[in-house]
Amino acid sequence: MDSKYTKPIENLAIGKIIEVDGSRIIAELDPSISELSRVFAGENYPIGQFGSIIKVHFGRRTIYGLVSRLRMKSDYQLEKGIPVVGSDERIIEAELFGEGEWRLKAESEFTLEFERGVATYPLPQQTIYLTPKLELRFIYGDAKGVVIQLGEHVGSGGAPCYADLNELLGKHTAILGSTGSGKSGTVAAVIHSILERGEIAQHTHWHPQVIILDPHNEYGKAFPKHQRLSTDEGTLKLPYWLLDLEESLSLFIGKTEFAATSQSNIIKNALIYVREQTAERLGLDKSQLTVDSPVPYILGSAEGLDHFGCKGGVLYEEGLIGAINIQRPDGKDKNKHEDFSKVVRKIDSLLKDGRLKFMMNGWDGEQDPLPIVVNQFLTQNTTVQIVDLSGVPNEVAGVASAAIARIVFQLKVWQSETERQNSPVLLVCEEAHRYVPNRGEAQYEAAQSAIRRIAKEGRKYGVGLLLVSQRPSEVEATVLSQCNSWIVLRITNDADREHVRSVLPDSMSGLTKMLSGLRRQEAIFVGQAATLPTRVMIRNLLAEQLPRSNDVDFDKGWQQQALTLEQINLVVKKWRYQSK
Ligand SMILES: Nc1ncnc2c1ncn2[C@@H]1O[C@H](COP(=O)(O)OP(=O)(O)O)[C@@H](O)[C@H]1O
Ligand SMILES: [Mg+2]
Repeated sequence: MDSKYTKPIENLAIGKIIEVDGSRIIAELDPSISELSRVFAGENYPIGQFGSIIKVHFGRRTIYGLVSRLRMKSDYQLEKGIPVVGSDERIIEAELFGEGEWRLKAESEFTLEFERGVATYPLPQQTIYLTPKLELRFIYGDAKGVVIQLGEHVGSGGAPCYADLNELLGKHTAILGSTGSGKSGTVAAVIHSILERGEIAQHTHWHPQVIILDPHNEYGKAFPKHQRLSTDEGTLKLPYWLLDLEESLSLFIGKTEFAATSQSNIIKNALIYVREQTAERLGLDKSQLTVDSPVPYILGSAEGLDHFGCKGGVLYEEGLIGAINIQRPDGKDKNKHEDFSKVVRKIDSLLKDGRLKFMMNGWDGEQDPLPIVVNQFLTQNTTVQIVDLSGVPNEVAGVASAAIARIVFQLKVWQSETERQNSPVLLVCEEAHRYVPNRGEAQYEAAQSAIRRIAKEGRKYGVGLLLVSQRPSEVEATVLSQCNSWIVLRITNDADREHVRSVLPDSMSGLTKMLSGLRRQEAIFVGQAATLPTRVMIRNLLAEQLPRSNDVDFDKGWQQQALTLEQINLVVKKWRYQSK
């Protein structure tokens, strides 16, 4: 056999093993190493970096380990209770993960046969080596199986980094990183790779279904063939009657008075009443419906109503408002009517808010509109659906996201097993900390429970989650911990780094230190979708494939004319009517 492959290359030796503990090895770095990198065959090799791969030779076999930590020897000695000898030697820790053997494939063409898992264990005093890039390609694997390309392994000389598609989407993935670290670029890269997979794998039919909840209206630009659902254009329809009890309470009572039980009861009773009315009209079986069933109903109007729910002296009995009125007490004791009037006033203000047209537009009372509403999100017409939430006021953004997540999930739940298998859906939640926060505020309760439900049970029903956040410490912990894969970009904030460490497996703890030093677009990729925990440079997208940047260029901007009075007039008008 060609000794070029089988013999250790002394030039790549970096230290000696001092301890072997199961699959973990601890080695002392050669004290002559001063720079933490080495040049070999014209390539630069970092030494001791998290996720880099070292090897140990054992006869004809080579055992590979993933570097998990680099620290001072004194630190290690302290931990072991060994007397500390003043020195500046360093210790490298690695997890052994696989073995390989070179085989002759064709004439003088060798391949490294690599297998996960270790059966051969090295011994103390053995030498550890850096792994040449030629070998890394065999270890990282090729595009076999159901994979998409995320980017390239850093320090591998361009070995592509793949992600297992089913693990990545089916078992949920979190994309975390500070502002500007490249999260949105990574989301776009993942989705472009998903879209391209059909051609790469030569599928005759390829119809991914991706729904992006887009709070900044940035993704449209990246996917020219998308279908846009927007409140500004009236293309998003998320009628009030879709909301379940929890969501309805959050919308009709609002955050501050969520706890007001008397108001909650008023809404609840009114909902049951109006939904039953419709059930009769549409010929639905009343006994099978609950207060949460998405049965359409009419809201009615609060125009000209007095404090006692009367119009021109007669009790107003139309729609939901009417159903509230008929619960009113007898008599004209103003206090006893207060809760009823409050709820009616709140509904009236929602009806008048231009930004809420997408929710408050009435039902014509004719046919069943539910299938059409669902068809907005689950459709054969397009692969990428972008729900532009940028025009939705903060206080209802949570309810709106909840309703969308719930519609998608519910439809999956009620599909047959085959239907489910044939139409999995990926839901992308940008700025997840905004609607699934780690706090118990009432206005988010609905969104929290909807997204939590998908996080916990989505994989059974074919709904995958891609959670994106710049504040991982502020995202609800149960939702984050349901993710099985992680793409962590640069994180500068200490609390967020700590939080990421607490949700990742223990062996990854060495990783958190380097999170602040990552370059833009560079990430740590760990979890079930990754072949190995690794440092990855996310694939480079062209300008037209990237989401719209929200950065304002002061230098450019200030070279333009400032606003004229006419322009201000136009803006003021939009502001006043709350409508673009
Ligand atoms: N995959 C990528 N390919 C090319 N450029 C990228 C990529 N990811 C990020 N960028 C660049 O970095 C900038 C900031 O990235 P962005 O994804 O908007 O960060 P974040 O969403 O974390 O705030 C983008 O405007 C873009 O210029
Ligand atoms: Mg972003």
